[in-house]
Amino acid sequence: MTRTPLMAGNWKMNLDHLEAIATVQKLAQILIDSKHDAATVEAAVLVPFTDIRSVQTIVDADKLPLAYGAQDVSEHDSGAYTGEISAAMLAKLGVTYVAVGHSERREYHGETDAQVNTKVRKLAAAGLTSIVCVGEPLEIRKAGTHVEYTVDSLKGSLADLSADELAKVVVAYEPVWAIGTGEVATPEDAQEVIGAIREAIAQWYGADVAAATRVLYGGSVKSGNVAEIMAKPDIDGALVGGASLDPEEFAKIVILGKTA
Ligand code: PGA
Repeated sequence: MTRTPLMAGNWKMNLDHLEAIATVQKLAQILIDSKHDAATVEAAVLVPFTDIRSVQTIVDADKLPLAYGAQDVSEHDSGAYTGEISAAMLAKLGVTYVAVGHSERREYHGETDAQVNTKVRKLAAAGLTSIVCVGEPLEIRKAGTHVEYTVDSLKGSLADLSADELAKVVVAYEPVWAIGTGEVATPEDAQEVIGAIREAIAQWYGADVAAATRVLYGGSVKSGNVAEIMAKPDIDGALVGGASLDPEEFAKIVILGKTA
């Protein structure tokens, strides 16, 4: 079973639509100049909602070798939900990926596994792929219960999804203590939890589904550490925050993401 690695840049609340155009053009140009083959490593940028239309326009017009997406979605289809954006609206803009349950959404907006579950269903119904984020805070890591904690959170986030819905899910393991801190988990730490995630998916959905599901690592990934992370057998890519804002650095990460 081969899983195409995915390098997804999570821009968070950075880069307005003009900066987005410049960044995406530069990123795509470096990938094209370096003869990067998107079939070996997929590259995606998860941009602020206000950037999506601009990114769509240049990706489509210039046939850039890049997917793009959003960082959140509403649990609702439409109606009186001021400030929210629906899965159908994102689908209309040609979005491929949407991050769901990022630790910053969980921490600052109280997002729960049950809400994440609803969002994943809405996205799957709209034909979009969720990047479902799970991972433990520092105190759980110190207590040594990070594997159980993370698998349990994933179980709630994926609760009662069909195998067809799961086919529209990428999992991202992001230990909270490693996000934006420069404190990267060791490749062994990441493999320990990601291996356990794949085993749990095998228990829930069977070995074939588990072998086909991509699981990413996220937390202080840079061009200097991505190769050793990608060398681990169960790690299928990275969710990259800070380092994805620099197109040269992110292009390096994409190119180095090629597994042997
Ligand atoms: P970081 O963020 O790469 O800046 O640590 C990762 C993320 O939050 O997705």
